[in-house]
Amino acid sequence: MNQTLYGTTVKTLTVNDIAAMKQRGEKITCLTAYDASFSALCDAIGIDMLLVGDSLGMVIQGQETTLPVTIQDMVYHTRCVARARQRAFIIADLPFMSYPTPLIAAQNAALLMQNSGAQMVKLEGARVEIVRFLVEQGIPVCGHLGLLPQQINQLGSYKVQGKTTADADKILADAHSLQQAGASLLVLECVPAALAKIISQQLTIPVIGIGAGVNCDGQVLVLYDMLGIGVDKAPRFSKNFMAYANTISDAIAAYQLAVKESQFPSSEHSF
Ligand code: KIV
Repeated sequence: MNQTLYGTTVKTLTVNDIAAMKQRGEKITCLTAYDASFSALCDAIGIDMLLVGDSLGMVIQGQETTLPVTIQDMVYHTRCVARARQRAFIIADLPFMSYPTPLIAAQNAALLMQNSGAQMVKLEGARVEIVRFLVEQGIPVCGHLGLLPQQINQLGSYKVQGKTTADADKILADAHSLQQAGASLLVLECVPAALAKIISQQLTIPVIGIGAGVNCDGQVLVLYDMLGIGVDKAPRFSKNFMAYANTISDAIAAYQLAVKESQFPSSEHSF
């Protein structure tokens, strides 16, 4: 797929291009994006993947959690992001309660893939049957394990997951199950770096960390956190790249370089 914007034609990355980066040991960079301007900026700097995350509930809408975000919100923001990117691969979150059954998940994923420009959908938890069904319909899926923000009312707080041997074993087993079900990518949020390293080594699909240490195949951060403009205090695993930059472009470029060269996250931003 090629995208032409302002007269220039650029090849858009595919799921195979992302998989090939893991194969050749190239770190994969990802940032969240919710609008056309930041999409174009991240894309021009060379960020490999843009995640239209349901974190937009907090950073765009000012909600306390991701739970109020609707599939219509995700469609709107995915369209805005897709319109402005050329090269970056686009993943869109399936929001809370948009995947209670395989069929409803597929219908909502279709809204993101067919009408909005997403190339992959992401869903939280070891929802193996849902993943298998989506993949059978031709929908690439990114799993999400570790801290699951959509389960905040069960968790009680946003805390590191997989600290006990039993919890770590469960996350490792779930990661294998998601890969087995056909997931093409896995996000690991807020888990000990040692666990994320084992999962990244054992899985053949790329593992993208957020608060999961430097040994993942790639990294993702919430854009507003890494620019220091989030409404709430940024989590410990994030880093304010604006603190060392004169412009937003410089901050995003510094993040891109730090991830590609395995300089981010350092132990200060890991568990
Ligand atoms: O919604 C989001 O931004 C996410 C990231 C935290 C991975 O899912």
